[in-house]
Amino acid sequence: MAQQHNHTHHDRSAWSGKLAFILAGAASAVGLGNLWRFPTLAAKYGGGMFILTYFVLAFTFGISLLLLETALGRKTKLSVIGAFSSINKRWKLVGILAAAVPFIITPYYCIIGGWVTKYLVSYVVDGPTAVAADGFFTGFITDPVFTYVFMVIFMLICIGVCALGVKNGIEKANMIMMPLLLFMAIGISVFVLMQPGAAEGAAYYLIPDFSKFSPDLVINALGQMFYSLSLAMGIMVTYGSYLDSKENLTESVASIAGFDLLVSFLSGLMIVPAAFVVLGITDGGMMAAGPSLMFVTLPNVFGGMGGAAQVIGVLFFVLVLFAAATSAISLIEACTSIIQDGTHWSRSKSLLACAIFVIAAGCFINAGYNVLIWIEPLGEGTQLLDFFDFLSNSVMMPIVALLTCIFVGWIIKPKAIIDEVRESSKFKLAGAWTVMIKYIAPVLVIVILVANVLPMIFPA
Ligand code: PHE
Repeated sequence: MAQQHNHTHHDRSAWSGKLAFILAGAASAVGLGNLWRFPTLAAKYGGGMFILTYFVLAFTFGISLLLLETALGRKTKLSVIGAFSSINKRWKLVGILAAAVPFIITPYYCIIGGWVTKYLVSYVVDGPTAVAADGFFTGFITDPVFTYVFMVIFMLICIGVCALGVKNGIEKANMIMMPLLLFMAIGISVFVLMQPGAAEGAAYYLIPDFSKFSPDLVINALGQMFYSLSLAMGIMVTYGSYLDSKENLTESVASIAGFDLLVSFLSGLMIVPAAFVVLGITDGGMMAAGPSLMFVTLPNVFGGMGGAAQVIGVLFFVLVLFAAATSAISLIEACTSIIQDGTHWSRSKSLLACAIFVIAAGCFINAGYNVLIWIEPLGEGTQLLDFFDFLSNSVMMPIVALLTCIFVGWIIKPKAIIDEVRESSKFKLAGAWTVMIKYIAPVLVIVILVANVLPMIFPA
């Protein structure tokens, strides 16, 4: 699409309305974090207790930051670097730091998207027994050819959607994938809960065990919430900038957080009881964390379901693929928008530049599992992917969030954002929001940062 630019105004993409914005925010938020991290954490930290804590944090702290970022975008009508620098030149650096985050996450997120694509294909072609076989996962992720092939396939799908534009591509894709994702999550949960023995697992997942409440639980819930809501990386600023000033922001961010929470909750309902039923796992601590939960434990769980195994396996990985793809699309869109605002290139040229970068960086990080496997950046057994994940999520995102709160709370003053929110809704809780942004959020973010970085400096 040809676009005309001058330095203050250029044609920006725009959502067709509030629903499109909500779905896009939810699409970005709902991702691998909901599907594999949330259930593991919930199982580890006393089920209902963790869910409850997460709920409270998401609807106070999480939603406040979500509102801040989307309002900042809508107010400035710029992606993250411009949003900061247009208000105060000296704060451009924070914008640059935030903008760097999606450039780091996108390549490695797409590598995992490639794994998911491979699993889906294998469930269809090779069947559930092959996928559940020992060594299938490690065998695949260290493959020096097919990991690249599947990564690039996944990337091209997501880039293709972005190439169709915000309204014709991203909105339409979300409109199809998000409701389907929700239906599949509900369907699989119901199926799992009907299995004999599942009730016990569900009870473990749902009933709060107050003795498991600990500072560690809160820190993990906070970190999870951050990543899950796609905060502190410019995505929500960009998405806010595509929103018309008349659309209600407070309701929209509440819906986004609600959707995200619902899918996290359902993921736990699918995964925790399933692990109970098939593997007889009774202690959350025994549940494998991270990738191995999804790529090793679950195929085993499905493998034990007899005739239903293939159908459930396929459905589940379609669900995961939708979640991963919609998040990756939001990441690619954020990178494209940052390039476009910075260079004043056309959207297509910016997307092409983004695609070249993402594919090249993805190949490099993926090499960490094969030709560069000798690089162990965070200690024995860690790969390049772990390093970039740590750098973006554990270090850069908290720093960006902290500086963003300081910027809004103390430099431009909360009123600027409150006025923006009030363009479209009442915002009765403006007082509480101000206290959150000025005082509570910065403290919580510093806690996350310290908790993330200390173990790296002083390993146990
Ligand atoms: N929020 C996504 C998830 O839960 C992850 C994500 C991170 C998406 C960064 C976009 C950007 O998996």
